[in-house]
Amino acid sequence: AQNCTSPPVIKNGVLLGPLLPSYKNGNSVEYGCQRYHFLDGPSTVYCEQGNWTERPTCLGPCILNVTDMNSNNIELKWRQEEFIFLHGDLIEFECKQGYKFPHATMPSPGRTQCERGRLKYPKCERMF
Ligand SMILES: *[C@@H]1O[C@H](CO)[C@@H](O)[C@H](O)[C@H]1NC(C)=O
Ligand SMILES: *[C@@H]1O[C@H](CO)[C@@H](O)[C@H](O)[C@H]1NC(C)=O
Ligand SMILES: *[C@@H]1O[C@H](CO)[C@@H](O)[C@H](O)[C@H]1NC(C)=O
Repeated sequence: AQNCTSPPVIKNGVLLGPLLPSYKNGNSVEYGCQRYHFLDGPSTVYCEQGNWTERPTCLGPCILNVTDMNSNNIELKWRQEEFIFLHGDLIEFECKQGYKFPHATMPSPGRTQCERGRLKYPKCERMF
């Protein structure tokens, strides 16, 4: 059984350990993610016949963009201290006063989800 070289570096990830000079077959290491990052995949990675098994990825957060919100005539539905959301978080917007969602029949038209750091902002149009 082959030993493994040093564990892989994961972008925005943190190697929690153990940190060893050499890893034998069957050894494992644990990963976490930097703050506001979502760990996707296995947090434990194993040394297997000289290779490391499947590693996780750390998905970035969504940061609200006030410029985009203003141009779409929306605001957050719930008062929020932080403008940062993790991957997978649901975010609910509502229209600014005097505006409405174009598809009023759709359930929760103001709801959207943070997807790998990207946020699709709902759009409101002026009421006539
Ligand atoms: C793996 O590393 C150990 C020391 O940690 C060493 O004794 C052993 O010979 C190594 N095995 C191989 C196949 O290189
Ligand atoms: C380990 O990786 C090497 C090179 O990518 C590959 O040739 C080998 O088959 C792999 N071993 C296992 C057990 O997957
Ligand atoms: C917000 O969005 C606008 C237009 O989409 C872009 O030009 C700007 O750089 C963004 N601001 C931040 C802080 O990302």
